Amino acid sequence: MAKKFAKMIVDKEFKIAEIDKRVYGSFIEHLGRAVYEGIYQPDHPSADKDGFRKDVTALVRELNVPIIRYPGGNFVSNYYWEDGVGPAEDRPKRLELAWRSLETNEVGLNEFAKWAGIAGSEVMMAVNLGTRGVGDACNLLEYCNHEAGTRYSELRIKHGYKTPHKIKTWCLGNEMDGPWQLGSKTPAEYGRIAYETAKAMKLIDPDIELVSCGSSSTSMKTFPEWEAVTLEHTYDHVDYVSLHQYFGNQENDTPNFLAKSMETEHFIKTVIATCDYVKAKKRGKKNINLSFDEWNVWYHSNQADNNIMKKEPWQKAPALLEDIYNFEDALLVGLMLITFIKHADRVKMACLAQLVNVIAPIMTETNGPAWKQTIYYPYLHASRYGRGTALQPVLYSTRHDTREYTDVYDVDAVAVYREEAEEVTIFAVNRDLEEGIEFTCDVRSFDGYELIEHIVLASDDLQAVNSAVKQAVQPRKEENTAINDGILTAVLRKASWNVIRLGKKQ
Ligand code: AHR
Repeated sequence: MAKKFAKMIVDKEFKIAEIDKRVYGSFIEHLGRAVYEGIYQPDHPSADKDGFRKDVTALVRELNVPIIRYPGGNFVSNYYWEDGVGPAEDRPKRLELAWRSLETNEVGLNEFAKWAGIAGSEVMMAVNLGTRGVGDACNLLEYCNHEAGTRYSELRIKHGYKTPHKIKTWCLGNEMDGPWQLGSKTPAEYGRIAYETAKAMKLIDPDIELVSCGSSSTSMKTFPEWEAVTLEHTYDHVDYVSLHQYFGNQENDTPNFLAKSMETEHFIKTVIATCDYVKAKKRGKKNINLSFDEWNVWYHSNQADNNIMKKEPWQKAPALLEDIYNFEDALLVGLMLITFIKHADRVKMACLAQLVNVIAPIMTETNGPAWKQTIYYPYLHASRYGRGTALQPVLYSTRHDTREYTDVYDVDAVAVYREEAEEVTIFAVNRDLEEGIEFTCDVRSFDGYELIEHIVLASDDLQAVNSAVKQAVQPRKEENTAINDGILTAVLRKASWNVIRLGKKQ
């Protein structure tokens, strides 16, 4: 069999676009143990004076999460935000219908916004367009962003928050195409309510940016007609359309699993085409950009979740969606991040769903520490080293076919140039499960650059997982990578996530 290899050229002049840092966003929903026992646990030894776990906040800060979507998710479609503000003793307990749990409202938007500030993140707020509508969304925005002197801004001040939260990014509902969603809608119904809500919200605060709901997955029968119809209504008043994508892995077929980022690529291209069709039809000037505001691997916990929600409903903070990620999940997360960077010209926001305990990179033990899942690492590396300009990768790789996909690159890769820091980072995944692949990259346009480090995440056991007591999967340094005469050479270990950093010689 012919030897497998990959080669790439990166040139500092061949740019895709400046990467919007919000592409490394995440998501916290009032779901399971994401809020209660996740970020918030007043009786935990590490709790701060507001009840938030400092050990979790420290990990969120390490990830440098620029924006966090809140409060849902499916949760938002029946959420009464007023329940979560004001004196704690007056807050009602509610039946939470999306996840059949008990919502105590101990944490609401003020506490969350304060915590997000401490964690170094902006808030991306979602409004309820399921069981509520235009008026409530306006009230919420007035409460959050208006200085003073009106009913809801004064209410916020009375609640102890004199300075407005000035939340810039707002989602117009969540997955409104999904029959599981409380108050789900047809494309025409959603298009109308989203248009009216957007119009009114921008009258209150013209500086906000709005996200119109896209399809909740490519497998929805209404995809991509949903995007075409709804954007025809909302085009003038919104800035982004959302994309959601979760990958399962029930078939025990790793090569096929690792090819799934090709679907992410296809999804992005289809949504861009649909946005541009609406733009053309409207004789519009602006682009609608993409907010990939839910994405991840999600399949380990499904059966347990069904059991809890069916047989033991109405618990506070039940352990829902607690996927324990293995090593191959981390590789697919890395491949999805590479795909977002390649589309930096249109994918401006993305939220790894979610951040703590619920399909999350960070887990907590109720009576113990917070710890890092396998997927923590590619997310950390992309967030840390993937800021700057995405470079057009001229990439050639040998290929293979899988059960569902053909011509799958053995190696996928992209490069990011941080001009001010004079650094270039190459992110690469070797999908091959049997052998290391020789990777060469022409970096001659980066005159005087040398290797800083080659970080690798690799494991002989694709099913290896981390836990509170053992970090079985964690990054280490790769030794044999070099640059000679502007050509970088490396061997990408079998099944590996690679971060190759170059910097200008001092
Ligand atoms: O992230 C978990 C759930 O997945 C969200 O609540 C929903 O929007 C999606 O279906």
